[in-house]
Amino acid sequence: MESALTARDRVGVQDFVLLENYTSEVAFIENLRKRFKENLIYTYIGSVLVSMNPYKDLEIYTKQHMERYRGVNFYEVSPHIYAVADNAYRSMRTERRDQCILISGESGAGKTEASKKVLQYYAITCPASEHVQTVKDRLLQSNPVLEAFGNAKTLRNDNSSRFGKYMDIQFDFKGAPVGGHIINYLLEKSRVVHQSHGERNFHIFYQLIEGGEEDLLRRLGLEKNPQQYQYLVKGNCPKVSSINDRNDWKIVRKALSIIGFTDDEVEELLNIIASVLHLGNVQYGGEDSGSAYITTETQIKYLARLLGVDGTVLKEALTHKKIIAKGEELMSPLNQEQAASARDALSKAIYGRTFTWLVNKINDSLAFKVWTHSNASVIGLLDIYGFEVFQNNSFEQFCINYCNEKLQQLFIELTLKSEQEEYEAEGITWEPVQYFNNKIICDLVEEKFKGIISILDEECLRPGDASDITFLEKLEDTVGGHAHFLTHKLADGKTRKVMGREEFRLIHYAGEVNYNVNGFLDKNNDLLFRNLKEAMCMSENKILTQCFDREELTDKKRPETAATQFKNSLAKLMEILMSKEPSYVRCIKPNDAKQAGRFDEVLIRHQVKYLGLMENLRVRRAGFAYRRRYETFLQRYKSLCPDTWPNWDGRLVDGVSTLVKHLGYKPEEYKLGRTKIFIRFPKTLFATEDALEVRKHSLATQLQSSWKGYSQKTKYRKMRQSAIKIQAWWRGILACRKAKRRREAANTIRRFIKGFIYRHQPRCPENEYFLDYVRYSFLMKLHRSLPKTVLDKSWPTPPPALVEASEQLRKLCMQNMVWKYCKNINPEWKHQLEQKMVASEIFKDKKDNYPQSVPKLFVDTRLSEFSASVWRLQESSYAVPVTKYDRNGYKARNRQLLLMANSAIIVEEGKLKQCIDYSSLKGISVSSLSDGMFVLHVTCEDNKQKGDVVLQCEHVIETLTKVAICADKMNSININQGSIKFNVAQGKEGIIDFTSGSELLIAKAKNGHLSVVSIAPRNNNLYVHFPALLSLSSLFGKC
Ligand SMILES: Nc1ncnc2c1ncn2[C@@H]1O[C@H](COP(=O)(O)OP(=O)(O)OP(=O)(O)O)[C@@H](O)[C@H]1O
Ligand SMILES: [Mg+2]
Repeated sequence: MESALTARDRVGVQDFVLLENYTSEVAFIENLRKRFKENLIYTYIGSVLVSMNPYKDLEIYTKQHMERYRGVNFYEVSPHIYAVADNAYRSMRTERRDQCILISGESGAGKTEASKKVLQYYAITCPASEHVQTVKDRLLQSNPVLEAFGNAKTLRNDNSSRFGKYMDIQFDFKGAPVGGHIINYLLEKSRVVHQSHGERNFHIFYQLIEGGEEDLLRRLGLEKNPQQYQYLVKGNCPKVSSINDRNDWKIVRKALSIIGFTDDEVEELLNIIASVLHLGNVQYGGEDSGSAYITTETQIKYLARLLGVDGTVLKEALTHKKIIAKGEELMSPLNQEQAASARDALSKAIYGRTFTWLVNKINDSLAFKVWTHSNASVIGLLDIYGFEVFQNNSFEQFCINYCNEKLQQLFIELTLKSEQEEYEAEGITWEPVQYFNNKIICDLVEEKFKGIISILDEECLRPGDASDITFLEKLEDTVGGHAHFLTHKLADGKTRKVMGREEFRLIHYAGEVNYNVNGFLDKNNDLLFRNLKEAMCMSENKILTQCFDREELTDKKRPETAATQFKNSLAKLMEILMSKEPSYVRCIKPNDAKQAGRFDEVLIRHQVKYLGLMENLRVRRAGFAYRRRYETFLQRYKSLCPDTWPNWDGRLVDGVSTLVKHLGYKPEEYKLGRTKIFIRFPKTLFATEDALEVRKHSLATQLQSSWKGYSQKTKYRKMRQSAIKIQAWWRGILACRKAKRRREAANTIRRFIKGFIYRHQPRCPENEYFLDYVRYSFLMKLHRSLPKTVLDKSWPTPPPALVEASEQLRKLCMQNMVWKYCKNINPEWKHQLEQKMVASEIFKDKKDNYPQSVPKLFVDTRLSEFSASVWRLQESSYAVPVTKYDRNGYKARNRQLLLMANSAIIVEEGKLKQCIDYSSLKGISVSSLSDGMFVLHVTCEDNKQKGDVVLQCEHVIETLTKVAICADKMNSININQGSIKFNVAQGKEGIIDFTSGSELLIAKAKNGHLSVVSIAPRNNNLYVHFPALLSLSSLFGKC
């Protein structure tokens, strides 16, 4: 542990407690120097943090830095303000005890910066909700506002806090900041009316003038030049290079609205600020009588408007004093000097009270609405002025240094004295440490009747001519013999040389300070003439009405003097701090020039002394670093020893003893008191803390694993039960579905069988399902196996009930196919078919050689292509070679038969042999056999006609069909059995006899007839070659 600590101390030692020569101031300062050179500005004295102002940005305040210090043991990481903040926070959380962080040091040592860092640390690292975020923002934003109104540039610090500030940050049980409260102490009001050379008034005046918008400044009657205002020119320092007033103005305006100031409130606040500047410019002239009168009327006009008071009343109040003598009110005129100080008193009163109002307003906005002490804890932050020693020290320095005496007292109370007392109370042997108890100085200042404040008050209140000098004399009379008090009169010759006659010296714990009594009485009285108070009570400005209460006018009791007020507020502060566990931050300023890297040893030694750091270190090293009550110690570390874990039943002291023995503490490392254990070295405690940290992990792992096991088991059981339930339900559903399907199947089968039994009966409930099924099946089968062509005669056999419907369907199907066929037929083929139909009508089943003609297509000419010489061939619709038989002798002659539009002509090549008008064509005769003979019967009324014509043709069916169509003689074709009679000439008849034989023979028979032997056809199966034509013929007939 020791080595680890040393390792962390890369430069010097990070804790002065570890200094070899801890009594040497030189060693102490050397350690500070070494670290400061390396930018290590923080060093501990035990738990006290010593902080050096680096006067430069060190980049050690980032979020990562905050994270590094969060929840980490105080000594684990290098010293830092965040470690103090985190330690206080963790103590508050774990021990449920309110904490306070006391930040002290000279002006410019970095107190305010440190307090801001602490606040930022909490704002960033603490848990937050939406409400908490607002509170965090407001806490952070309260700083720029208070700094604007309460800070000023001084010779020591460009942003010096001219008031003391104690801020409570309130945390809820989850550790989130939920509210805040600020108490302010002794604002340096005199700065409003006067500033030393090189110093400024409060920032807000410059920010308003520099940053205020034209419009706003016009409303306030202000000019954009600070030199115009008497209250801003005293220090002759309107501009400061490190300050950007214009920018700061924007920040303040934004902060005011975040905190919750309304526009009206801001306006009224600025009216007051502007009024103070106008008041400063009120000038007086003197009358002969000595009475003062106001020479600057415009200022009064502005003041009347901005303050909302009557101008005349204000004017009178600024030049007169109201005296109540024997119950009568008299207005006594003031001389020039008195009037000016009345004016300044008013300015100070207005500004001072407005500042208090501002703090109250911020408090309202930070207030934790449901605050109860049981559920919230507090961390207090004290940023208060450090010891001040100037060339000329006045009432303010007296108060400030008194405050520091009180804080030192508190420090002694809480650390040194209580430490010794505690050892004694616990029966621990203790070697007394010599330290100076400054109670004697506190008493000198504050003791009732005999103390300096009491004497001052007495001088302020007593009738007669009391003055600062009479006060000094009174002091000499009363406390003249006090060891810590001295005046010029009381001093020895050597001291007299360095003291003024109007001064008294206090030998403070930190050193000697001479105070000049000039102004003590006035400042303590803090007097504001009654008529000025009255004028302010009449103000229409809402802020001023709250600041100047009318009750004040009627209250007969004398108001408390400034010193008494301050004394009382300090007493209250001490009470607050005593109720909390303190952490200390001691700030040191390295040089007066505000320069980075400059280490002014004299100045630092002075501060080390004033802050009592050496004494602090001595006590730390002499005593024990750590002590805790047995129950707290045991409770925290009992898990480190098997005998004390999880519970120790015996006496607490025995438990602790067992525990430390188990931890291996050496006898010189600790002592057991009556109620507490004392641990001498921090390293012992760190080792224990480290062990606890390790143990915590294993405990947490154990807890986690048991909890995880338990929760997983519970989860598993629940899931299992749920799965079983779901399975059972699902199985039930499946079984129900299956049963339902089976029932339905059984019903179907049953209905099917019943239907089958009743299938031949008329439709009835028993068979309707079966019949429907059979119908359905037949139709579905039909649907799958419909014939694809007209020639396909297949058709499923219908069930008995569907025979008729099946037939209808079949016909419909056929018609449909035919219709489709016909739709797609081309005109030539149609013509062909029509001719074939005519042929069929005439010859089918009547003439033997008809079947042979069926598959042969009818053509328009049977003449060869070389027959172009045939007479009028072009005009004919049909031409065919024929054999003509003479009527007498039946001599055969080759001719061509041509069918013209109105006649059939017989030609012999180029010659017309015979023309038969269709009108004279009586009829046509053919035999029923398979020969090609036919006779055209012609009417013989006409002499031109030579009688009937006997012809023979290879294509008899085709030729006669064409003739029948052309001559429209379809019904005039006679098919004769055996013989045909024909006219040879007028009145003379010829006969053609037809017989069947094996060979075609046409010859004149002996009986003078023409004998034709036809060849009997071999079979009639030729139909098959053209079956479609045959069936179509019937269909066409119907279409
Ligand atoms: N930690 C820091 N890092 C960088 N600069 C710092 C730090 N602390 C202080 N300073 C510088 O020092 C200046 C003075 O610091 P600060 O105002 O905190 O002093 P103070 O102790 O509050 O003085 P006063 O008593 O006059 O109010 C700051 O304005 C800043 O420039
Ligand atoms: Mg400050």
